[in-house]
Amino acid sequence: MAATIAASQAPSRGRFITFEGGEGAGKSTQLRLLQQRLASRGIEVVATREPGGSPRAESIRALLLSAKVMPLGAFAETLLFAAARADHVERTIAPSLCRGAFVLCDRFLDSTRVYQGALGHLTDAALTALERGSVGRTRPDLTLILDLPAETGLARATARRAGLGEAVDRFESEAASFHARVRDAFLEIARSEPERCVVIDAAGLAAEVETRIWSAVELRLSEWEDLRLGR
Ligand code: TYD
Repeated sequence: MAATIAASQAPSRGRFITFEGGEGAGKSTQLRLLQQRLASRGIEVVATREPGGSPRAESIRALLLSAKVMPLGAFAETLLFAAARADHVERTIAPSLCRGAFVLCDRFLDSTRVYQGALGHLTDAALTALERGSVGRTRPDLTLILDLPAETGLARATARRAGLGEAVDRFESEAASFHARVRDAFLEIARSEPERCVVIDAAGLAAEVETRIWSAVELRLSEWEDLRLGR
């Protein structure tokens, strides 16, 4: 039901920007900073995340990030990500885009392609079918891939968890080689879709990364404005 509704959404009027990358790349910090910048220009911004982003999808998130789903295998896990995503698109993303808001989403389709596809070995055909069913035409206008050496990202993620007194989740506890493959898989997506994806060097201070992101976004804002005005 949710999938049918998502697939039949009319093309969006707002803009959909996704943040992707490995652990500790600073996606959520940068998403908040971009949210502030856009809001200060008078743009309505909806900030959201995956897995989650709607009440039903948040309850699936708890299951996905625990180790409980692991015995089910990569296919069942991917179905759960897709189920959460269909609800998220239907309840949060599509309605926001329809009313003209910008949606900033921490992880989206590319995370499934990387974690369940490239690393979980789900086939492209299965992933494509699930994408069609779960998001329909609600695709990102721009994807910022925050890129960082795997060891740097893992060290940041571990320090962040320790600061918050939280345990690492099942993805963060994977070996360093896993995270290096995650990085490569994101870079491969960026190479194959250069129109949509911009790789951002996520090393250095948050303010430096923010500047890099803002130049990429500003460029798109003016392109989108030209398109809107038919220039
Ligand atoms: P989260 O705590 O949000 O991590 P991060 O701060 O790194 O974004 O956990 C999300 C985890 O879920 C992350 O390790 C990647 C994984 N994931 C997938 O495996 N597939 C997906 O489709 C999505 C959206 C996330």
